[in-house]
Amino acid sequence: MVTLSTLQKMKEQQQKIAMLTCYEASLATLLENEGVDILLIGDSLGMTVQGYSSTLPVTLADMCYHTTCVARGSHNALILADLPFGSYQQSKEQAFSAASQVMASGAHMVKLEGGHYMVETTQFLQQRGIPVCAHLGLTPQSVNAFGGYKIQGKNEAAAKQLLADAKAHEEAGAALVLMECVPSSLAKEVTEALTCPTIGIGAGIYCDGQVLVLHDMLGIYAGKSPKFSKNFMLGQSSIGQAIKAYVMAVKNNEFPSLEHSY
Ligand code: KIV
Repeated sequence: MVTLSTLQKMKEQQQKIAMLTCYEASLATLLENEGVDILLIGDSLGMTVQGYSSTLPVTLADMCYHTTCVARGSHNALILADLPFGSYQQSKEQAFSAASQVMASGAHMVKLEGGHYMVETTQFLQQRGIPVCAHLGLTPQSVNAFGGYKIQGKNEAAAKQLLADAKAHEEAGAALVLMECVPSSLAKEVTEALTCPTIGIGAGIYCDGQVLVLHDMLGIYAGKSPKFSKNFMLGQSSIGQAIKAYVMAVKNNEFPSLEHSY
């Protein structure tokens, strides 16, 4: 059974953490049997499963439903669930209410998007028994404020802010820090500065673990896949083989290569 202490030990022993999104029971069983450590019920399900053009329309009820499905199919992996847009930004009490519902649905940890302005919420949840993963860099729920899905932390001031945000979340009790779409040199600096594990998506090879959106890495998402993703189905004859290839590539430090990094 993968727990917070397993992840912490993996960081200390420099063993890479393999994480994938997962939204349902059958794939949950398959993914963990192929060695995926963390199953993320990502609000990317709004795009991959529900057909929306962003994650914004995903509701708390949707997240609870898919978390329940994944939890029924999973017995070993750590289950991480996103708090959807609008369910946690208003106040820390609102965040606790949303987080307690996804935890009751079977999650072991919740993920929230945002830097320094979410640190108090991280602390509030952590002190009340809810492990938190802080999602920094490109936070897709803010796509309209960013003006698109763009690389973050590129200039010195933005990089400094991201590093400070990561440290502040860790001090507040975050169990994981996830960085999306940031230069690998910045993700390396953050990973070295933190005691808790980091997970990267489009953040280079130096993070303690990697995550991809399942539908992107299986090549079944009809929309445009990002530069940092890779189709692991190519050359494989089953979904299980593709998952295994991804897990091995992460564990052996072969993914992401420069072509999938910034
Ligand atoms: O929702 C999701 O799938 C995510 C990943 C992009 C990390 O948050």
